[in-house]
Amino acid sequence: MKERLAKIKEEVLAQIEASDSLEKLNEVRVSALGKKGALTGILKSMKDVAPEDRPKVGQMVNDVRQELEKALDAEKSKLEEIVREAKLKSEVIDVTLPAKKNQVGHRHPNAIVQEEVERIFIGMGYEVVEGPEVEKDYYNFEALNIPKDHPARDEQDTFYVTEDIVLRTQTSPVQVRTMEKGKLPIRMIAPGRVFRSDEVDATHSPSFHQIEGLVIDKNITFSDLKGTLAEFAKELFGEETKVKFRPHHFPFTEPSAEMDMSCFKCGGKGCRFCKGSGWIEILGCGMVHPKVLKMSGIDPEEYSGFAFGVGLERITLLKYEIDDMRLLYENDTRFLKQF
Ligand code: DAH
Repeated sequence: MKERLAKIKEEVLAQIEASDSLEKLNEVRVSALGKKGALTGILKSMKDVAPEDRPKVGQMVNDVRQELEKALDAEKSKLEEIVREAKLKSEVIDVTLPAKKNQVGHRHPNAIVQEEVERIFIGMGYEVVEGPEVEKDYYNFEALNIPKDHPARDEQDTFYVTEDIVLRTQTSPVQVRTMEKGKLPIRMIAPGRVFRSDEVDATHSPSFHQIEGLVIDKNITFSDLKGTLAEFAKELFGEETKVKFRPHHFPFTEPSAEMDMSCFKCGGKGCRFCKGSGWIEILGCGMVHPKVLKMSGIDPEEYSGFAFGVGLERITLLKYEIDDMRLLYENDTRFLKQF
């Protein structure tokens, strides 16, 4: 019995020594000390030992058990230490490495210009309002005195959602929505996205932005329009900017005009920006048509007003001297970061 015990002890100690992982060590523990282990096997064969020898043998088995447990614990600590060392090594952080920079976004040039335009008009007492991009035919056309056979209604230009719902082709419907509310006087601008089924090229896109303006009060005249828009151009492009008005036609204004400003680049001498003319077309405007006022419930005998519409991209391209509109829609941060 003593020899059997000594042999088991020797074998198990050798196995402990040979264990190179915590898993293997645990297997050794189970095979030596577990329920079906070698040592337990010996205790089970106690019945073959003479009764007077049993305490002695029991003592021997216990001694071996304790010795093996000690060896197992020691080996376990050793292996755990190795595992921890390896982990620390693999998790080393080089605090001297330069930090990764976060990619920070950038305000879009369109947004910068829109806010600038808003700032200018807010300074003149205007309110900034919004209207829906999916709009009723009535607001986009009918209430703006755009008759059924007007070329602007041609399906080539307008995205129809249903027969009487469109993607707005202009921000002018916000004029109608504002007048309909019945609160007078009105001084508002309405920036927003508009849609036209256009080709994509350097100066066209099926979706772009306009800023609408509307003033309705008693005794508003064309002089108010001229003074306001001249001031707007000066604030946006510099004090020396001049403006001139050319007669034009819009169904919702009478009289109508287009405003040109002196070229911000050459000051009027003629260059590649103004195509040699010294002037740059900048917006459409006019006195609100009496029919338009009437349709929105405003008495044209008592009130008058002016309106204007500016292409936001047009101003952005001019202001930053960008020569291709498509650059504004690519969201390439290398491009956007420049403004
Ligand atoms: N809605 C016109 C367009 O998209 C622009 C415009 C012209 C707006 C004259 C106005 C205006 O308010 O008075 O071409």
